[in-house]
Amino acid sequence: MEGLGLGDKIYDRVQLYPNSFLKKKVSHYFYSPNYFMYNGEQTKQLQEQTKQFLTLLDNEEKAVEAIETLRSILRFHEYRYYVVNEPLISDGEYDQLFKMLERIEKNYPQLITKDSPTHRVGGSLNEGFATVQHLVPMLSLDNSYNAEDLQDFDRKAREASGLDEIEYCVEPKFDGASISLIYDNDILVRGATRGDGVAGDDITTNVKQIRSIPLSAPFSKYGIEQIEIRGEIIMSKSAFQKYNEWLTEQGLATVANPRNTASGSLRIKDPKEVARRNLDAFLYNISYHTENRNVKELETHSGALRLLWDCGLRSPEKEKKVVKGIQAVIDYVLEYEQKRDELPYEIDGMVIKVNSIELQDKLGMTSHHPRWAIAFKFKARQATTKLIGVEYQVGRTGAVTPVAKLQPVALGGVTVGSISIHNEEYIKEKDLKIGDAVLIERAGDVIPQIVQSLPALRTGAEQEIIFPKTCPVCNSELFKEEGEAIWRCINIECEAQVVEKMVHFVSKDAMDIKSFGDANVRKFYELGLLKDIPGIYTLDFDKIGLLEGFGKKSIDNLKAAIEASKQQPLHRLAYGLGIRFVGETTAKTLANSVEHLLDFQNKTEEELQQLEDVGVKVARSIFHFFSNEQNIAMLQQLEALGLQLKNTKRATVASGELAGQTFLFTGTLSKLKRSEAEEMAEAQGGVIVSGVSAKLNYLVVGEDAGSKLEKAKKINSIKIISEDEFLKLIE
Ligand code: IVH
Repeated sequence: MEGLGLGDKIYDRVQLYPNSFLKKKVSHYFYSPNYFMYNGEQTKQLQEQTKQFLTLLDNEEKAVEAIETLRSILRFHEYRYYVVNEPLISDGEYDQLFKMLERIEKNYPQLITKDSPTHRVGGSLNEGFATVQHLVPMLSLDNSYNAEDLQDFDRKAREASGLDEIEYCVEPKFDGASISLIYDNDILVRGATRGDGVAGDDITTNVKQIRSIPLSAPFSKYGIEQIEIRGEIIMSKSAFQKYNEWLTEQGLATVANPRNTASGSLRIKDPKEVARRNLDAFLYNISYHTENRNVKELETHSGALRLLWDCGLRSPEKEKKVVKGIQAVIDYVLEYEQKRDELPYEIDGMVIKVNSIELQDKLGMTSHHPRWAIAFKFKARQATTKLIGVEYQVGRTGAVTPVAKLQPVALGGVTVGSISIHNEEYIKEKDLKIGDAVLIERAGDVIPQIVQSLPALRTGAEQEIIFPKTCPVCNSELFKEEGEAIWRCINIECEAQVVEKMVHFVSKDAMDIKSFGDANVRKFYELGLLKDIPGIYTLDFDKIGLLEGFGKKSIDNLKAAIEASKQQPLHRLAYGLGIRFVGETTAKTLANSVEHLLDFQNKTEEELQQLEDVGVKVARSIFHFFSNEQNIAMLQQLEALGLQLKNTKRATVASGELAGQTFLFTGTLSKLKRSEAEEMAEAQGGVIVSGVSAKLNYLVVGEDAGSKLEKAKKINSIKIISEDEFLKLIE
């Protein structure tokens, strides 16, 4: 597409070139000297005050008098920890001070301020995210991959500006999710995702969970009343590792890489869950600001980074380099690429920006990206290693997947020891042999892949990979259907399949039995405590209680989750059975088409094909499942154990005791997710409402319930019940 020429207009010029065209007088001007400009004296003083406060922990009255000092102390330590990365006190000491502030604010709510450090925690987002317009569109960057691309970029910039040499600011390209922040009168008022570049989601509540983003910052000392800042939300390598360890402990599936986890986190509706992930941020651009006097820092990009840093924001002040001419740029990006793996977070390249803001404005932008900046993308990470063997895994549907065992090799910060090689054909295509040298890659930092074998390095000692003819777990013969690439074990009693079926049954999208998870299914199976799906409902908890890591609390949680799953709507059970080709959508179609799941016993393949999106293959698979006596016996057993095989939605809406009763959930529930609780109420004919009014029948109250509870207390007709009482009611 044709770009814009100098002076062309796509948006309002003020929006495009705010830096130099908007000099608004600021009427409201406040500046607290106690903010972030921590010179040596202030650092000493705050550290001294910290020590005094730590001795005051039992003396609430005295602390109340100095509550603002306590807040300053906490802000200072957040800054030392999250921005400068040089903490001056232990995590424990910080926590003690933080808890003290929380306690005071609870006892003296009149002392709460908007920018109190406690305001990061809590809140919830039930209504989804509002769409908000960015003050300046968030464009993306053009990419470059080598020195020639950069020289080309520089040539165009020189030609357009008429300069012989350009000054650039070079900084890392952080690999995360971009955001925009707005501070109004020094207070963080909005955080938004990029969205389509023009408008994004308002994620202020989530952004407040990120400790490197201060809730207030003294922009007013630069005469700035309003400022919009661009940055990247990232997850450090250590936070990523810790989060995965936590997920594993919980028996939950681990996450693939820091970038996706960071970007996924921004749209989570539970801010506490966002806080758990310990996200970080780098703020690297001022896209809009008001200014009531000329500020030298705002004349260059490097100055803007310094200004942000000075106001307590984590800008790449330390990572950036200002250089003259493109050769120095090339040298710096190549030097930085070497350091990439040593950094505590992922970067996928460098960003080169024309340093003068005036020149940036002059160069303008095409419809996609600025002409004053370009990304230099690092090469996809590759490594060579040796293929030392192949193992075969059997999945829930009996599919046998070959996994290449590799000589462990470091690849972009992780050690890779095995890689899926998908199927027999893939092995042939890539010409893989045991003993081969192979080139592997983590493209886009996702799952590593084998790029190719390196036949030139063969010694003759390599061996063919011979795909097994029998199941590696149960030894029965493998089959492959016409036109398919996958070999399958069709023995439904095959241990691997039995275990994987149970793993699927308890999983999040199926019966969602919390705290059960993959690891527990395998453990209980190996110990002989669990052998099939109905066994989940007859577990011997006395025996489980003797296992290491199973205290009373975890057993209670497990019991409650298993019990709760009995009320899962029918479509979840239909999906959880793991019938081949029946995904979540088909499971819903199935559940909605019968009064009782066992009604499928009487349906022919032709009848099944009448259902939406059910073709010949799917219908045959469903028919086979319900023609199998063992499957029918299992379903009967599940029903006898209390699982819902009836289509409750249809059956109870008219007749159920809760039919037409209205429910509202508030606070954090401990056993159920809010969506689950709502689903359960609806399954019994209940209706979910969004606010407290005389029409509300039940308010279900979790931890930290706030104003809704207070309001409900004033209306006599509302029954206020706990989560446990709700579970009883539902039973
Ligand atoms: S500047 C108009 N600087 O890369 C210029 N972007 O591919 C705005 N990114 O959408 C972007 N680190 O999410 C800039 N130091 C950095 C960056 C950076 C990461 C991301 C950003 C942007 C994408 C462009």
